[in-house]
Amino acid sequence: EKGGYEHFMLKEIYEQPNAIIDTYRGRMLVNEGIVRMAGVDDNIERLANAKRILIVACGTSWHAGLVAEYIFEDFARIPVEVEYASEFRYRNPIIYENDVVIAISQSGETADTMAAIKLAKEKGAFVFGVCNVVGSSISRESHAGAYTHAGPEIGVASTKAFTTQITVLTMIALKLAKHRGTISDSDFRYHLQELDRIPAKISKVLEANDHIKLIADKYKEAPNCLYLGRGYNFPVALEGALKLKEISYIHAEGYPAAEMKHGPIALIDEQMPVVVIATKKGHYEKVVSNIQEIKSRKGKIIGIVTEGDEAVRDLADYVIEIPETIESLTPLLTTIPLQLLSYHIAVMLGKNVDQPRNLAKSVTVE
Ligand code: M6R
Repeated sequence: EKGGYEHFMLKEIYEQPNAIIDTYRGRMLVNEGIVRMAGVDDNIERLANAKRILIVACGTSWHAGLVAEYIFEDFARIPVEVEYASEFRYRNPIIYENDVVIAISQSGETADTMAAIKLAKEKGAFVFGVCNVVGSSISRESHAGAYTHAGPEIGVASTKAFTTQITVLTMIALKLAKHRGTISDSDFRYHLQELDRIPAKISKVLEANDHIKLIADKYKEAPNCLYLGRGYNFPVALEGALKLKEISYIHAEGYPAAEMKHGPIALIDEQMPVVVIATKKGHYEKVVSNIQEIKSRKGKIIGIVTEGDEAVRDLADYVIEIPETIESLTPLLTTIPLQLLSYHIAVMLGKNVDQPRNLAKSVTVE
């Protein structure tokens, strides 16, 4: 059942190229320059004319929501707010009838996310579900939706659910952008072509597995770890930190790289590993100067860089390369080494990778 892999988590990490193909198969017609999604097409006016999109989710799905905020605002030019479902539901939130609420949930059973959409429905919002489990409670409670089609995710640590959520949300954002005229036809096509190249590029990143294992061995005893990113890769930093915490029990935090100087840089000493996402597109120069600040305080730097990078390589203790792609799609690649890094550290520490302590796959209680 684990298909020859030692753990479900590793299997699911390796399934990502195919899972993403399954997500866009039949929907994205690259040569025709079309994306077909019934849940979006049937409600295109409601979605594209939303004054505001509210995204509600928990955990890793909330991180996918943060990536989606950048994508929707960038392409479709619709204001987006991303909320923890647990905070949203208890806050007496302001919800307008022309708001669209997107609920993101792998299991489709998360109690807080479910309660958040019930509340949004009561207030007249249109609820769109992005779920993995077909027929799940959240998918049934939503007015419309799009499945991620990632296949069953067994490992408690979410991996392929995250990357397929980003894939679905990217396609939705592109469709809304096209309808609203905020993206040119040629840019739209170019994005489809680039998305179509992502699975092969993920396979390329997976080839770095042995190298990542070496890095894991080097830092497995660290009591703390920081993850930094900017722009589209800020949520990836949060996701990398969550992955390490939940399966290795090492304390980890994700930050927007520029926030370091507002406090967390005080944590840096020669014991502190800092994973920095420093891909070429996406505030590269600024991230390089953030790396210099860490370096001068003797922090250990693991850089996630674009193939051929030199500046970060010179500063970092280790680098992991990812192939080049357009900025909005980089999270689909930068996430992969962070998943593998936490996986190997957890295995080396003898932790129960697929069923970490105190955690359940679906959180059906609040
Ligand atoms: O099923 P959901 O996507 O609604 O689950 C949300 C979170 O419980 C989930 O993402 C959790 O944070 C994962 N264990 C993270 O790896």
